[in-house]
Amino acid sequence: MFYPTVPPRRESAPRKRGAAPGPGPRVALVADRETAAGTSDPYARGVTGPRLVVIGGLPGTGKTTVADELAARVACPVFNKDRVEASLRNDGVTAEQGSWTVAENLLTTLAGEQLRRGQSAILDTVARVAASRAAWRATAEHAGAAFRLIECVCSDPARHRARIEGRIRGIPGWAELTWDDVESVRARWTPWDDERLVLDAVEPVSANVAAALRYLE
Ligand SMILES: Nc1ncnc2c1ncn2[C@@H]1O[C@H](COP(=O)(O)OP(=O)(O)O)[C@@H](O)[C@H]1O
Ligand SMILES: [Mg+2]
Repeated sequence: MFYPTVPPRRESAPRKRGAAPGPGPRVALVADRETAAGTSDPYARGVTGPRLVVIGGLPGTGKTTVADELAARVACPVFNKDRVEASLRNDGVTAEQGSWTVAENLLTTLAGEQLRRGQSAILDTVARVAASRAAWRATAEHAGAAFRLIECVCSDPARHRARIEGRIRGIPGWAELTWDDVESVRARWTPWDDERLVLDAVEPVSANVAAALRYLE
């Protein structure tokens, strides 16, 4: 298991929701390989190739929040399982027909295509099933890309519940989740033993994003 030992770097200014990305730390991806050399930006140092980043965890633990902030800084796509599955449901693929599995498989395909082009991708999905996490690791290895797994948790159940119940995502065709939904996923949860970074959503978003950026190196 990987836990950051260095305290997260303070960002210059917290970004308001919906505002343009600020001058936060930026990770150099493959296109930046040349310019990253000799840079004084610590986040550019050592990141010289594509990454497959999987951000998992129970609903309401801040996966999408971290994924979207990371994407703004590293300029790579996020493939969000809920958005893809909602789209499938809108086109008539039911839960009984395996919309969850189909959505995760689509994420794998899209990520594989990104990696094949030498570009990074972030998957935003619960990632409950160990076989799925192993498949994503294998997808990265097959493409010669680095694999980074992040598990989001929320160690404060009251805050976790308040966030689930206060959240309005407005995804077309996708119901807002309830606390019962979270408990239902938790009941089927097997603790992960994968090498990973764990982010606790009781910490500020900026601190978690900074820790995630370090972990991408
Ligand atoms: N570290 C945090 N501090 C404060 N609020 C947070 C934090 N992480 C997430 N949130 C809020 O909690 C809610 C759930 O986060 P979200 O990213 O949608 O979770 P998930 O994608 O895991 O379901 C959102 O309203 C989000 O703004
Ligand atoms: Mg989400």
